Amino acid sequence: MRITDMITRKRDGQALTDKEIRNFIDGYTSGTIPDYQMSALLMAIYFRGMTEAETAVLTDCMAHSGEMLDLSRFGDLSADKHSTGGVGDKTTFIVAPLAACLGCKTAKMSGRGLGHTGGTIDKLESIPGYRTSLGGAEFLSQVERIGVSVIGANADLAPADKKLYALRDVTGTVESVPLIASSIMSKKLAAGAKNIVLDVTVGSGAFMKTKENAEILARAMVDIGTRCGRRVTAVLTDMDQPLGRCIGNALEIEEVIAFLRGDDRGLDDLREVSLTLAAHMASLARGIPADAAYKEAETAWKSGRAYETFLAFITAQGGDADWIINPGARKKAPYETVAVAEHTGYLSHMNAEEVGITAMMLGAGRQKTDDKIDPLAGIRLLKKAGDTVSKGDPVAVLYTSDKALLPAAERRFSAALEYAAEKPAERAHILGEIAGDLQEK
Ligand code: URA
Repeated sequence: MRITDMITRKRDGQALTDKEIRNFIDGYTSGTIPDYQMSALLMAIYFRGMTEAETAVLTDCMAHSGEMLDLSRFGDLSADKHSTGGVGDKTTFIVAPLAACLGCKTAKMSGRGLGHTGGTIDKLESIPGYRTSLGGAEFLSQVERIGVSVIGANADLAPADKKLYALRDVTGTVESVPLIASSIMSKKLAAGAKNIVLDVTVGSGAFMKTKENAEILARAMVDIGTRCGRRVTAVLTDMDQPLGRCIGNALEIEEVIAFLRGDDRGLDDLREVSLTLAAHMASLARGIPADAAYKEAETAWKSGRAYETFLAFITAQGGDADWIINPGARKKAPYETVAVAEHTGYLSHMNAEEVGITAMMLGAGRQKTDDKIDPLAGIRLLKKAGDTVSKGDPVAVLYTSDKALLPAAERRFSAALEYAAEKPAERAHILGEIAGDLQEK
């Protein structure tokens, strides 16, 4: 089979066979197919798309390109969640302990942030002592005992995706539904959970800017997971403005701690999204209705059991208990500035991607993979879209360890805000749900 024949067939809109897709992925991962041919195929897929069957085979090959984690010891209770990305998205740290309280076993492998979205592992590393790398036995035994462990994804998990994603990033082929769906689902399948809840974000801080496109991506991922024998639900959530009030690594963990201790002031979005995702994990794992699971999740949060589970999980991985329990033990960024409203009226829109870029400019994220993170940098939002403001009112506090970064960041943040005389329409936090239909024997 000639590689160029496969490229031209896809270019001309034909479907590739299972064997052709497997040859391509195996050849590219092992280095026998060069970047220029893979780039041409990716561009052909970008323009011509893939059938459901082609996408499922592509995902399966990518998942099997490396280690496949075996979570069978947890039976039906293994449950994972994945967000397609956002700004201020700290739901994993709330959802996984809540799901553990509801009986789920979450063995989660997460990544670092790049660009405007933060990374789960960077956030965890802002907790002194936290170990993001555990041996397989310790990882699974913690999940058995506490119900949750979160570590950094190692290089052996879906290595084909790592190579392909890096190539897509530089060839203008990221924004393709079959390529995004196979990239995300290959990692989820390799990570082994029987139950998968996908948080598909929609809006200015998300990959998918419209609900229609988010639904297409969600449906594609749910279908892949179902074809591969997993129970999958996708929840469409609003990411048109940052989630919660804090953006930045330590700031987000501090917000999580306050929330888990019962303080949800100004955090309706974070509460609703987190409880909904945890409820769907338990609903899939235990076969109970999602609304009953939601009530259980609410009780686990309000009673403080989710906080106790969070504390147990973080300290089991070496995180400093005093840092969690005692706000006085946490360092603050040495420099801060207050961004103020430039108009009087309603804050009508806050562009989440621009706010994420501002946090990155302050040191909270990286533009290149080897950039160093400032764990204390970030933004605390004092106002959100829909709030009334008078010119000169404080809207946010910007934090950094490098004073020179403040002026440009403040300008960028202010430019991300829009004002109006009329109250903007309220956006729902949960925009839809798409459930898979796995036929189980
Ligand atoms: N996240 C991924 O893991 N892959 C993509 O292609 C897009 C977002």
